[in-house]
This record gives sequence, C-alpha cells and structure tokens, in this order.
Amino acid sequence: AREMPEETHDIQSLSDAAEAIGGCRRCSLYEQATQPVFGEGPQDAEVMFIGEQPGDQEDLAGRPFVGPAGQVFDEVIEKVGIDRSRVYVTNAVKHFKFVPRGKRRIHQRPDSGEIQACKFWLNLEREFVKPKIVVALGARAAQSLIGKAVSISKMRGEPIELEDGAVLYITNHPSYLLRIPDVEGRARERAKFAADLELVRDHMA
Ligand code: URA
Repeated sequence: AREMPEETHDIQSLSDAAEAIGGCRRCSLYEQATQPVFGEGPQDAEVMFIGEQPGDQEDLAGRPFVGPAGQVFDEVIEKVGIDRSRVYVTNAVKHFKFVPRGKRRIHQRPDSGEIQACKFWLNLEREFVKPKIVVALGARAAQSLIGKAVSISKMRGEPIELEDGAVLYITNHPSYLLRIPDVEGRARERAKFAADLELVRDHMA
C-alpha cells in the first residue's frame, strides 16, 4: 500500500505546494489523471480566478485553462481589459475527472467529496497569494468557496465578502458558454459573462 505523503508539513510557499500536490492522495482522482494541474500566475496577483477542474488539454499540459474553455476565458478577459499575466488562475479540483469513451475522455463533474478534499490546495493558494478579489467561474468553484450550492443567476453581479476579507464574485464557467447551442443565446450569455468581468476589472486597483 502506498503511504499518504506528509504533504501538510514543509509547505511554506506556493512553490512547495505546487511540488507537494504531485503526491496528493486526498481523493482517488490522481489514479486516472495524467498529473495534477496547480494554479498559475504571480504570487502577488490581486485577482484569483477559480474554475472547476482541469479538462482534457489541461490534464495533458499540466496548466489551467489552456483548452477550449481557456480560449473563451482569454478572449473575454482581454476584451474587458484584464491582463492574464497579472492574475492567478486555478481550479477548485486539481485533477481531471473523466470517463473514457473510445479515444476520447469525457469530463465528469467532481462531486462534493472531491471538491472538499481538494479545498486543502485551494486554501493554500489563497493563503499564499492573498488575492483581494476571488472570482468563482461556475457553481462548483462557488460551492467550494462558500460551502453550499449556489445559483449563478441569483448571485452574479453582487460581490460577497469572504471570511479572510477577500471579495468574491460569482459568474458562469466559460465552458457553459461553449455548450449553448444557439448563436443568439451564446452571444447573450457571453455578454453577461463579460459584464461580470467588467465589475471585477473595475474593482481592481
Ligand atoms: N475548465 C476548468 O474549469 N478549468 C480548466 O482549467 C479548464 C477547463
């Protein structure tokens, strides 16, 4: 049997955490994933964006938001004037959860237990980066941060203060935009997503 690594000790920095997560056995998702995908961005970032979990491309690249959802994210933040190189980007769950289907790997939603288990890493990222603004991209990220199920439509646009003093904005996940079949609906939701991110931009120093 494999021993649980002593990951909680000796984590003094973000880079220690990024290394220690390689031995994470807090849930079973490590068994199937290629690698954990830790957050990325400057340690002094004012804003932390939190997605759900790495997708297929992120799992292979070892970097967050580099696949199709990442492309939407990049386009919209650029449009509203947020520089990706100045923000910290991570996920509520650090391993890709999927079921194989032929040659493809189909994304599965992480469950509450997996989100809870992985909160250990997200909390470390929040402690080391100390973002003033936290942005939950989608319901899973919001659930991880506030500990209960949330309605995006009810909670978007109204920042919430977190217990560490950071301000939380909740918006949709960019992959939600990709799943909307009709062009008009997609454009409408994309505009709402951009409006949410404009609030974040305006909140930035
Ligand atoms: N979706 C996410 O939530 N995170 C990623 O990193 C990629 C896709």
